[in-house]
Amino acid sequence: MNKPLNLDGISGKVAIVTGATGDLGSVIATDLLAAGACVVWVGRQKRSLDDRLPKTVADRNRSLAVRADIRKESEIRSVVRATLRRFKRIDILVNNAGARGPTTPVTRLRLRDWQEVIDTNLTGPFLLSRECLKHMALRRAGRIVNISSVVGHWAYPLRASYAASKAGLLSLTLTLAQEAGEINVQVNAVCPGPVAGDAIESVLAARARALGISVEKMREQFLRPAALRRMVTPRDISRMVLFLCSDAAQNITGQAIDVSAGYGLYPGM
Ligand SMILES: NC(=O)c1ccc[n+]([C@@H]2O[C@H](COP(=O)([O-])OP(=O)(O)OC[C@H]3O[C@@H](n4cnc5c(N)ncnc54)[C@H](OP(=O)(O)O)[C@@H]3O)[C@@H](O)[C@H]2O)c1
Repeated sequence: MNKPLNLDGISGKVAIVTGATGDLGSVIATDLLAAGACVVWVGRQKRSLDDRLPKTVADRNRSLAVRADIRKESEIRSVVRATLRRFKRIDILVNNAGARGPTTPVTRLRLRDWQEVIDTNLTGPFLLSRECLKHMALRRAGRIVNISSVVGHWAYPLRASYAASKAGLLSLTLTLAQEAGEINVQVNAVCPGPVAGDAIESVLAARARALGISVEKMREQFLRPAALRRMVTPRDISRMVLFLCSDAAQNITGQAIDVSAGYGLYPGM
């Protein structure tokens, strides 16, 4: 049930995965590796990267860890340079790294917190996509998958910077898909609902604090809008990413696909 999805068209490809030290990114990177891709693991902390890298020699030979802050243009260029030096090509880019930002109303949101989230969640994917597309254009092939969020479609009180960054990423996905179509590059977004793991526990705790309620009450409120009344798993997201990178998705582009256990189907919840 919890096995990675192995789809045709991924083996032998070179994939860059940002936020590969996190809950979702590490599973996406691991599953791409299991499907036969060479994977560039991008994160900010060397120790976390070392912890996440695969243990077998065969998998390590198809892995490259690159420390980079995706808010910085020069470090993005280093990621692309290191990838090309080691693997000679770039076929897949998964823009997964994300900052959560503060849980506070807009009236108290500091400019530097707003900027940190926009820089990480929107400007980083823009810069990486721009640099990778230069190489994808030469091969006239490539896949870009942006990890947005269901909150990119809606209002998300107390999380304006996060919601705006994820909505912006959906808009970037559409325009990139239209522009990159002529060089045969497909660009799609995956919109997770709440994903079971450490990140969502921090989100629940911060939100419970801001609203003055217990974490358990918060959890109950958080899950109520999910038709299936549950969170999704990192592997649910990874499966969709692999599908979008595979031959099976050869004619899908410019789409935002919710993987959310049916989150927010009924506005009255
Ligand atoms: N978890 C959820 O419920 C949920 C729901 C919807 C959407 N998402 C989205 O899914 C993606 C992954 O989330 P997650 O749950 O796996 O979060 P996570 O465990 O907090 O991982 C976030 C990752 O992003 C990296 N990162 C943050 N800022 C960075 C920067 N400036 N430069 C480079 N890397 C940076 C972190 O790397 P370092 O640790 O090295 O700094 C970490 O690897 C995010 O885009 C998130 O918004 C998550």
